[in-house]
Amino acid sequence: MPSPFTPSFGASPPLLVGRDEQLDAFQAALEGGVGDPGRAMLLTGPRGAGKTVTLNALEDLARRQGWEVVSETMRPGLAREMAESSLPALLGRVDPGAVTSRLTGVQGSAVGFGAGVTRHVDDRYPARPTLRNLVTTAADLLDRRGAGLLITIDEVHSAAVGDLREIAQVVQHAFREGRALAFVGAGLPSAVNDVLNDEVLTFLRRAERFTLADVDPDDVALALRQPIELAGRSIDDAALTIATVGTRGYPFLVQLVGRHMWDATPGQDRISVDDANKGVEQARRRVGRLVHEPALAGLSRVDRSFLAAMAVDDGPSRMRDIATRLDATQVYVGQYRLRLIAAELIHPAGHGRVDFSLPYLREWLREHAASQALPNT
Ligand SMILES: Nc1ncnc2c1ncn2[C@@H]1O[C@H](COP(=O)(O)OP(=O)(O)O)[C@@H](O)[C@H]1O
Ligand SMILES: [Mg+2]
Repeated sequence: MPSPFTPSFGASPPLLVGRDEQLDAFQAALEGGVGDPGRAMLLTGPRGAGKTVTLNALEDLARRQGWEVVSETMRPGLAREMAESSLPALLGRVDPGAVTSRLTGVQGSAVGFGAGVTRHVDDRYPARPTLRNLVTTAADLLDRRGAGLLITIDEVHSAAVGDLREIAQVVQHAFREGRALAFVGAGLPSAVNDVLNDEVLTFLRRAERFTLADVDPDDVALALRQPIELAGRSIDDAALTIATVGTRGYPFLVQLVGRHMWDATPGQDRISVDDANKGVEQARRRVGRLVHEPALAGLSRVDRSFLAAMAVDDGPSRMRDIATRLDATQVYVGQYRLRLIAAELIHPAGHGRVDFSLPYLREWLREHAASQALPNT
């Protein structure tokens, strides 16, 4: 029997737990009507926290209420692609007959030419509806059905900031004009912060912001047990406890631990303590390859040494100790502290201390110590 778990990025879990706050807030915003401030939302959190799948859940929630969704991932050229393909396709679905004439009308009056001139101009420069026309038209058509248009953008970052500006300005305008529109963006905290510092993107600064944190143990246990039982197997209480603790509340590990303990002895009815231990161990290795390795790939040698110096401790590290271990001044290591905080690998943990932000990163660094230069140990 195949495992019900979905341990890959962007793959919706069999049971999404711990995200009621975001789902409820969005539901309330849809019910709140045009202009409800909750209709602009930003989701942040580290890799594997569930940004993409939460975004998908919000989209489903909107669709169930008759909304249409333009679901995109940030990339250069996105604004143009939306204007040339996603929105025309959506309009074709919503109102196949009326769209062309309506858009031509909008274009004509917006440009302000008389009929003859418009045609003359159109012949040489075929009228192309702007992103703004398309968004407004779609929102208004859907408004008449008591619904609206939801635009979501995943993996928000500053690399394609020109496109994001263009889209955000259109959305901002539509909000101001009282159109039936909602916007949800998602991205890593540092990437979203970069974007929020952009002068033009003030609209996003007012969006309701949610950080997707770790999930509570009760929710983790449910997210493991329920899919197992629905798929026709069961799990020992002690095994469930081991698996739950093993995830450390990190959503990606919920799926990885679930998958690997399921696969330990797939022929058995019950998942045992032994299966759970094996599952946690294998999940931990996979998270090393899928999360820790890529996260560390872009770091400098000093960044890595800093992390290796932290991994010596069993809990939060004192900056003073890190400086000693690296044989460097506190001012020097302070620079690296800031860089690593910005990269979401560590976070401040009380006065003069820092701790790891990703589960099992400490263990991973210890096991891979050979490749992480550390001069003074
Ligand atoms: N709330 C949750 N409950 C259970 N599994 C989750 C939850 N959030 C995410 N997952 C799982 O974690 C993995 C990573 O989710 P994803 O949305 O791709 O993360 P992100 O976009 O933040 O990097 C996926 O396998 C997904 O099914
Ligand atoms: Mg994602």
